[in-house]
Amino acid sequence: MRFIIRHLSPFVRSRRRFSFSILISILILIIFILYLIDYNHPSVDLLSDQELIQTTNKNSLLNVFIQNTTTVIEKNELWPVDEKGRSLKQHFLALDVTGFFRAGSEEGDKVQCISSNTTFIWTRQQNRIDEVDFVISHDAPAIDDSPFSHLKLNQEKQQYTMAFIMESEVHSSTGDRWAKYNFKMSYNLDDSYPEPATYFDVNTHIIDLLKPPPIPFEEKDKNADIVWIISNCNAHNARQDFIQQLMKEIKIDSYGFCLNNRQGYAARMTDNIYAYKKYKFVIAIENSNCVDYVTEKLVKAVESGSIPIVAGRSGRPDYRRYMPDHSYINIFDYTSIKALADDLKRIGNNKTLYESYLWFKKHDKNITQLSTLSLGEKLKNFADVIGSSATMITNGIAGKEKSEDKVCKLIRFVRQTPWQEIAAHNGTARVNSDIACLPAGSIRTYFNSPSSNSSQAV
Ligand SMILES: *[C@@H]1O[C@H](CO)[C@@H](O)[C@H](O)[C@H]1NC(C)=O
Ligand SMILES: *[C@@H]1O[C@H](CO)[C@@H](O)[C@H](O)[C@H]1NC(C)=O
Ligand SMILES: *[C@@H]1O[C@H](CO)[C@@H](O)[C@H](O)[C@H]1NC(C)=O
Ligand SMILES: *[C@@H]1O[C@H](CO)[C@@H](O)[C@H](O)[C@H]1NC(C)=O
Ligand SMILES: *[C@@H]1O[C@H](CO)[C@@H](O)[C@H](O)[C@H]1NC(C)=O
Ligand SMILES: *[C@@H]1O[C@H](CO)[C@@H](O)[C@H](O)[C@H]1NC(C)=O
Repeated sequence: MRFIIRHLSPFVRSRRRFSFSILISILILIIFILYLIDYNHPSVDLLSDQELIQTTNKNSLLNVFIQNTTTVIEKNELWPVDEKGRSLKQHFLALDVTGFFRAGSEEGDKVQCISSNTTFIWTRQQNRIDEVDFVISHDAPAIDDSPFSHLKLNQEKQQYTMAFIMESEVHSSTGDRWAKYNFKMSYNLDDSYPEPATYFDVNTHIIDLLKPPPIPFEEKDKNADIVWIISNCNAHNARQDFIQQLMKEIKIDSYGFCLNNRQGYAARMTDNIYAYKKYKFVIAIENSNCVDYVTEKLVKAVESGSIPIVAGRSGRPDYRRYMPDHSYINIFDYTSIKALADDLKRIGNNKTLYESYLWFKKHDKNITQLSTLSLGEKLKNFADVIGSSATMITNGIAGKEKSEDKVCKLIRFVRQTPWQEIAAHNGTARVNSDIACLPAGSIRTYFNSPSSNSSQAV
């Protein structure tokens, strides 16, 4: 408490020195009592002393934020900040309001954020809404509803809301309500603020791309070139109709519920890789074709070292943002299913041609050593191999995804960005599926229509 006295010492020097001293003593006593009350709070052992004072002061007259023993920053219920308005806060409390995050973790679990040298604690107790720093929600519930209605954002009390979604626009909410959140986080590389949260752990994705294939061309399955493992047989883009037709032209092993013709692997992500790697091609077509909607289907295909077969048209999605050039087969590059099947046979029967699709796996980098490097160093080595002007680096996943806990991303951001700048940021609506995505049945329509055209068509 010494620093408060020091800070207020100019006032103490006034004529009414005696009464001021009493006033100060009373204030200190109040703070101390509040401190003791708060000390019995369940979260208390996880907060620093400074934050306790900060918390207890929320409704007091003092309105001071104490960063350390030499500095007192006066802000109206804001976090301690530096002279540029960047947060100096080191410990945070995050409310998982929809109970979606960190499945299996306990109430009060503490997470270390290496990128900002901070920690945060998870809670699911909605009645702690007044004390939390981040309110995190799955999808975007109406923000005027309880418990959000308690929140005073930015101007009065520094708390931030974040809505998060990994389902495409076809299968989750869109529209204006997204604009009301401070942070909108999704797989969308451009529409996320401040950063995307994709299905790709870039640290791993880069290594998976550069790793030699676990099964060489000669040892791939001899009976079928293609594998498909899917459990949603009613996808928005009608991929199943397409697969059914493709099966008439070329052998496809289907282990999942849809068009099943093989047993042995369930449609489970870990299992899938064991199946995937034995085949030359993996069908990694999503359930809907939307901007940047690229999921673990591609991640797992890449991990398996086989060539992914994907579907992207008019940037819905643009696979060049996730993969090196000439590393996947896009069905929309073909004008008929027959032409696609013929090309798959041609590639699958020619080792040189097949391996040309895995060109970025041939390099002089030491993978074991690469795996131990920082993300920045990994990216540099990756750029050496695929070229620094590759879309994946300039405009895609490698340049935009920092691969860390979503809350740690926000904390890193608020510690690098003046709070006024964050407060001035205008949220934006999430576009509707008719804009973000190809229409329903688009894969079926494409191959049934004589006007079928290539993936670059707009
Ligand atoms: C206290 O904060 C000031 C200004 O932010 C800083 O210069 C100083 O190093 C800090 N002292 C400690 C002990 O952290
Ligand atoms: C991280 O913060 C702690 C205090 O919370 C400090 O002691 C430590 O030196 C910091 N480490 C780095 C790498 O900045
Ligand atoms: C295999 O593919 C390579 C590279 O495209 C090509 O040069 C070669 O002629 C092909 N071989 C056969 C037998 O088609
Ligand atoms: C690759 O790096 C690892 C770890 O640094 C080392 O043990 C191994 O010998 C290296 N391999 C080659 C082929 O240089
Ligand atoms: C946010 O919206 C307000 C009102 O529409 C506008 O005046 C302001 O310039 C916008 N700020 C930014 C950063 O776009
Ligand atoms: C696609 O359409 C454009 C114009 O509509 C045409 O110029 C082009 O040749 C077509 N491509 C194919 C592969 O059919």
